[in-house]
Amino acid sequence: MIIKKDKITIMTKTEKIEKIKELKIKKDAVILAHYYVSDEVQEIADYIGDSYFLSKKATELTNKTIVFAGVSFMGESAKLLNSEKTVLMPDMTADCPMAHMVTKEVIDKARAEYDDLSVVCYINSTAEIKSWSDVCVTSANAVKIVKNLPNKHILFIPDKNLGHYVAKMVPEKEFVFNDGYCPRHEFMKADEVKELMSEHPGVKVLAHPECNSEILELADYIGSTTGIINYSRDSEDKEFIICTVMGVNYELKRLRPDAKFYFTKTPPVCVNMMKNSLEKIIDVLENGKNEMELPEEEIGEKAKLTLDRMLELAAR
Ligand code: 13P
Ligand code: SF4
Repeated sequence: MIIKKDKITIMTKTEKIEKIKELKIKKDAVILAHYYVSDEVQEIADYIGDSYFLSKKATELTNKTIVFAGVSFMGESAKLLNSEKTVLMPDMTADCPMAHMVTKEVIDKARAEYDDLSVVCYINSTAEIKSWSDVCVTSANAVKIVKNLPNKHILFIPDKNLGHYVAKMVPEKEFVFNDGYCPRHEFMKADEVKELMSEHPGVKVLAHPECNSEILELADYIGSTTGIINYSRDSEDKEFIICTVMGVNYELKRLRPDAKFYFTKTPPVCVNMMKNSLEKIIDVLENGKNEMELPEEEIGEKAKLTLDRMLELAAR
């Protein structure tokens, strides 16, 4: 085993890419990657996208195996939606801290208080949290889905920042919030964004809704990673200030090689997403290890319903 790992480590990048291609055919595998992983993993992925695109794509593929270069909740969602497929995670420890940031008590308390409550759960959550909820959303479809729910009262979990953003966009509903957040976006410094704004006057600020409210107030556009990428792709501007994780730079530059993208001085990097690597992809494909398991039946079934509901409501 150790010998095999060493063999992978000493391969050149081209050899690693060739090996991955060969293993994908042998194992009937497809590689899905989130925009926050490293450039070299995005380069070899069959599909790159935001959380919504990737979860939808996972339901459309015919391959036996999905290698998910992302974090646990993404692989887990892919498995819940495709229980018959093998889902392999390049690194089992790549987890999203926000995915655990809500307790059952918060949900029970809100359900006891409001008869017509809908518990809306950001996809960045564990299967257990999804199983306590009514519908899942991602940053790409949260506003649309919440707007169309018949319920007046919404408990938004786990992300307080996305929750407050959705509440602002859907003023006709009443929201209960939870105190979860993404450390990368929550602790991004508004002062560093302001510094960029004064260094590059007039340049638009594009921000992910997981950012703290101080940053969102500075933003000209707020949207998911795909939203930010599409905004710059379709804009005539040549410079942009980007408030999200730096991994998006790969796709931003690919689509707009003529444009400049500025990130905060403290580099916004998701350490968990960065755990994915070419070596680990070879290792899991070769050895079939790091298989995502389905959660216990009761949790799995309920969690899948929230994802199914998201896919159905987002498509309307
Ligand atoms: P989206 O790619 O769905 O915008 O969300 C980003 C994210 O935080 C994934 O962790
Ligand atoms: Fe989680 Fe934040 Fe990393 Fe996204 S960027 S996976 S929300 S820690």
